[in-house]
Amino acid sequence: MKQFYLNTMGCQMNDHDSEVIRGLLLSLGYGETDRVGQADLILYNTCCVRANPERKVYGHITSYRRLKEKNPQLIIGICGCMPQQKQELAKILEQLPHVDLIFGTHNIHRLPELLERAQNGERAVEIWDEAQYDEGQDFRDSLPIARGHGLKAFVNVIYGCTNFCTYCIVPYVRGREHSRLPEKIKEDVQNLIQDGYKEITLLGQNVNAYGKDLSNKMSFAALLKELDRLEGLERIRFMTSHPRDMGQDLIEALSTLDTVCEHLHLPVQSGSSRILRRMNRGYSREYYQDLVRRIRGMTPEISLTTDIIVGFPGETEEDFAATLSLVEETQFDSAFTFIYSPREGTPATRLPEQIPEEIKKKRIYKLIELQNSISAKKMQKLLGTQQEILIEGRSREGLVGRTRTNRLVHLDGPLDLVGSLLKVEITEASTWSLRGRIC
Ligand code: SAH
Ligand code: SF4
Ligand code: F3S
Repeated sequence: MKQFYLNTMGCQMNDHDSEVIRGLLLSLGYGETDRVGQADLILYNTCCVRANPERKVYGHITSYRRLKEKNPQLIIGICGCMPQQKQELAKILEQLPHVDLIFGTHNIHRLPELLERAQNGERAVEIWDEAQYDEGQDFRDSLPIARGHGLKAFVNVIYGCTNFCTYCIVPYVRGREHSRLPEKIKEDVQNLIQDGYKEITLLGQNVNAYGKDLSNKMSFAALLKELDRLEGLERIRFMTSHPRDMGQDLIEALSTLDTVCEHLHLPVQSGSSRILRRMNRGYSREYYQDLVRRIRGMTPEISLTTDIIVGFPGETEEDFAATLSLVEETQFDSAFTFIYSPREGTPATRLPEQIPEEIKKKRIYKLIELQNSISAKKMQKLLGTQQEILIEGRSREGLVGRTRTNRLVHLDGPLDLVGSLLKVEITEASTWSLRGRIC
């Protein structure tokens, strides 16, 4: 049997696309291997949101030239967001001549034909600039999905992004916003429930924009309400939410719908209103803080996580101090922190006041240190509390599960508890995980 090795980078969109790619390859008779040296097909599903993951792709794929020399039948492929950028595609074609197969984010369903062409010795390269869809028709609907987990599943609700934050490449590589029909989403979720799934994560770059482009307009909160009614579903999560589009109806849905978990990923990006304006985020520091107050007012136990960029062009010491003070005041449960990475074709790249690397690094260390101490404190507060845990599997340390607020909990217990919801008392807390005892 032929084997494929699939490496997935980037966000959950890519994770989920890789489930589709995996499903396609399995249906073509391939098996999966985690040893790159044994593969007949090496495929990288790439991310281009920052420069670092891109560099990694060039590094890895260059080193696979050796494997190709040993096995000329080996096919090496690159897909996902990276080759959606014209200049990057040209660079791949030139610098990685041993890559045989390239496709993008809009034509995953073309993989079987492209792979066959690559197998016949052709350099199979095909990128689409936009997805082709009619309302309600999406190529992913008819493809096999090989899901990575038996209890938790991703379901796309909206593709693409049209926010054009000035630093971000995503709108250019993922296309316009395009919502799936609620019937389709419900059908997916219902099938997943039947297959024994307990938890659904609804995916979109900006889930709050859900439904605005449908001819029968529908809000994301209304979609949540419909899904909440489905018999047998235990937990619904969603990401990512844009603060600007976080309406009162969604704040209420978070607090009132039983299946909707008390976790919100709400990227703030900066604590400085001046920088937020230059980022085209569409809100101010004060608006964000007021939003958090309203959310916590209705759902006090909510876990709030965020994304923050340091070193955006023109970020002064005052601007950065504003980010630190916002982090201090908001007390996020955790934060993903990033050094601003210029992306070709985005407006921020052309701004004159780029920040030197050393300053960006100094700032991010400071920010990480502050957030880590807050994260640790927040975890300590859970000691002695009772939490509802979905047991998701096992690790070296016994069973593992997650709280409704998405915190990782280790505990002892028999394997047949996997898949059940249990009350657990928290007995130990570290910065990243908890330990608990079944009540
Ligand atoms: N749609 C989501 C996530 C997009 S990418 C959202 O709007 O929140 C995930 C995170 O990567 C972003 O939230 C942002 O913090 C970060 N990011 C995006 N572009 C970046 C860049 N050019 N440099 C550094 N970080 C970036
Ligand atoms: Fe990028 Fe902004 Fe869209 Fe998020 S909302 S994907 S940061 S453009
Ligand atoms: Fe990266 Fe593409 Fe996601 S650029 S963050 S994998 S949408």
